[in-house]
Amino acid sequence: MTQSNCRVAGQGAYLPERVLTNADISAFVDTSDEWIRARTGISERRIADDSQNTSDLGYEAAKIALADAGLDADDIDLIVVATTTPDLVFPATAALIQDRLGMRHGAAFDVQAVCSGFIYALAVADGLLKGGVFNRALVIGAETMSRILDWEDRSTCVLFGDGAGAWILEKTDDNAAGLLGYDLRCEGRFTPLLKTTGGVSSTRTSGYLRMEGPAVFKHAVTKISNSMARLLEREEIEIDEIDWFVPHQANQRILEGVADKLKISREKVVSTVARHGNTSAASVPLAFHQAVLDGRIQRGHLCLLEALGGGLTWGSALVRF
Ligand code: COA
Repeated sequence: MTQSNCRVAGQGAYLPERVLTNADISAFVDTSDEWIRARTGISERRIADDSQNTSDLGYEAAKIALADAGLDADDIDLIVVATTTPDLVFPATAALIQDRLGMRHGAAFDVQAVCSGFIYALAVADGLLKGGVFNRALVIGAETMSRILDWEDRSTCVLFGDGAGAWILEKTDDNAAGLLGYDLRCEGRFTPLLKTTGGVSSTRTSGYLRMEGPAVFKHAVTKISNSMARLLEREEIEIDEIDWFVPHQANQRILEGVADKLKISREKVVSTVARHGNTSAASVPLAFHQAVLDGRIQRGHLCLLEALGGGLTWGSALVRF
């Protein structure tokens, strides 16, 4: 039997226009540009305009990905959106984006795995495409994290930003191309380390993001490194074969710690954390898009993606672009 894979037919990303610098934040909470840059690597982040919701950011990224693939919405029959900050409790943000794209066919739903959401969504779409039910998927990571931040909590409000990234996945008979494999994990017992203070069924509000930063930091380096090592071993790929490491953009020290642990040279690490902050499920496709735009990631390159977020959830994916 011929084994099929899912290739990345196109990709895109969108950032809202408003820039919030570290100096801007220092004006209303007790922090400094020096502390934020030294402890996180972040200089600025984008914040959605009051009129923009998560679906608006996702829609803009989707249009760019469709144009990149030379396709239009009629060619898509599955939309999977990874988000923790949906416009509404229901319908899914994927349904809202489907409507904006003018689609009247196919299926659309959201995946909730917080910052690991895009890796989870890729795996879900890959499985559905390979199962033969759908032909082409639009996979989006989109977030307005600014809406669930407590802007008086300096330990979290400096870390996050808004944005969206999108990929088009389609089946290919070339089993050396596209999404080669993934590793997904969750340990719900770590919920107290990273969560919101509310939810629909508990408080009837969304609540605010809370994080035990230093504890999450320690879990991040170990768990992400182990996930990547497991994936590389399973797929029989040596670390030197990786062209680009595209990590979740949570903290420059985490992504460098992971790269060092796996002996990935710093030149291969795609980092956009300085300009984007942590955009949760949007962070990996946003960073990927930046590296494609500036000519680093090219067709045929082997890329290793990873993320860790609330749950804790975490995972990694190998993609031959
Ligand atoms: N400005 C100034 N001081 C701050 C601050 C800020 N914005 N935020 C926290 N601090 C202070 C704390 O109050 C604490 O002070 P104390 O020691 O007097 O109690 C101190 O800084 C903590 O410093 P440190 O232990 O060195 O923090 P850190 O190096 O672990 O950095 C984070 C803090 C949050 C940046 C870091 O832990 C982190 O990035 N965590 C993980 C994030 C992550 O992986 N997210 C992924 C899932 S979304």
